Amino acid sequence: MSNVFMDTYNRLPVTFTRGEGVYLFDINGKKYLDFGSGIAVNVLGHSYPPLVRAVSEQAAKYFHVCNYYQSDVSCAFAEKLAEACAPAGMKKVFLANSGAEANEGACKLARKYSLLKYGTGRHTIVTLKGSFHGRTITTLSATGQEKFHRDFGPFTPGFMHIQGGSVEELEKALDEKTVAGLLIEAVQGESGIVPQTQEFIREAARLCAQRDILLIFDEIQCGLGRTGTFLGLEQYKDEAGNQIKADIVTLAKGLAGGIPAGAVLAGEKTCDIFIKGDHGSTFGGNPVAAAAGLVVLKTVNDPAFLSEISRKGELLCCALKENPKVKQIRAKGLMIGIDIEGEARPLLEAAIARANKQPGLLMLCAGANTLRLLPPYIISDSEIEQGLLIMNELL
Ligand SMILES: Cc1ncc(COP(=O)(O)O)c(C=O)c1O
Repeated sequence: MSNVFMDTYNRLPVTFTRGEGVYLFDINGKKYLDFGSGIAVNVLGHSYPPLVRAVSEQAAKYFHVCNYYQSDVSCAFAEKLAEACAPAGMKKVFLANSGAEANEGACKLARKYSLLKYGTGRHTIVTLKGSFHGRTITTLSATGQEKFHRDFGPFTPGFMHIQGGSVEELEKALDEKTVAGLLIEAVQGESGIVPQTQEFIREAARLCAQRDILLIFDEIQCGLGRTGTFLGLEQYKDEAGNQIKADIVTLAKGLAGGIPAGAVLAGEKTCDIFIKGDHGSTFGGNPVAAAAGLVVLKTVNDPAFLSEISRKGELLCCALKENPKVKQIRAKGLMIGIDIEGEARPLLEAAIARANKQPGLLMLCAGANTLRLLPPYIISDSEIEQGLLIMNELL
């Protein structure tokens, strides 16, 4: 434990020194089953051998060259990423370091598209209540949750929050004279795993296309296979049964399996909007992160691997539904929100204290009464059973 950190996190009393597969080990050698993946980051678990190899080999070659030049590995990563997001309509990539940075890039891109085509005054980005888009001043402005706004104003103007699921509010908010983009999570993570309805996304896509408002999907938590498809938005269809396409997609968290990385992906309308000097990032596309990202993309963007994520999610949810303390479960793939009777935080603490009996369990909460599970994709059925046993014992 250290006291020199600013007091920004309500940390749990455990200090880790090592990880292996779905387990983390603390300074006393105690073992913990990780059902949180560092908030959807360690998608391939801890110390996944191909990741360790790729990162070590890249580190032995070079760490960084800066974006005045090209890097072989960053080019390969960007190509693979564009290919993985092509079914969602994506064509080009900007590499960043975090989710907030990716969302800032997306807002800049949407505003410039609108400015070039329609002139000033059409810059509003509509987002949803309950959304989470980051902690910078602009991404906080986009975030539709009051509790994150306290004390930090004034905020970036030009954001508006509407009720998710309400087609009526959507219809009213998407004013073609003032709105540049609609920024949504296919499945809201931070507010307790809230998937958007088919109807809402279908209408959002229809209205955005009709009014030339950019449809931006924040896939930072629900993308990269988490819901059982490469992007969460792939689970939504238009009236003709065609997959919904985006104008812009943002990614981060698990993109490099635990090394900071983020990305803005742009579709047909937006892929040539940024020109030289418009945007940049010192570490964006960092070669070590790119080497890790290539392993993540090659592993995750595979139909058999993705369907295993869905199957494992169902296995977990089916068993949890049986527990009488569980009030409601909202889930897609390995993105699971569980409303429980009573408070979630004491359960997180008890799950850690249980490490005395081996193993402890690491879970997340989202709000006072909701547990959030985001296990690594490489979890086995027997590790899921082990986690379920611990959860049932604790609940
Ligand atoms: C949906 C979503 N968007 C954006 C962010 C911000 O990402 P970062 O913390 O990497 O800036 C998060 C983080 O939890 C997120 O869940």
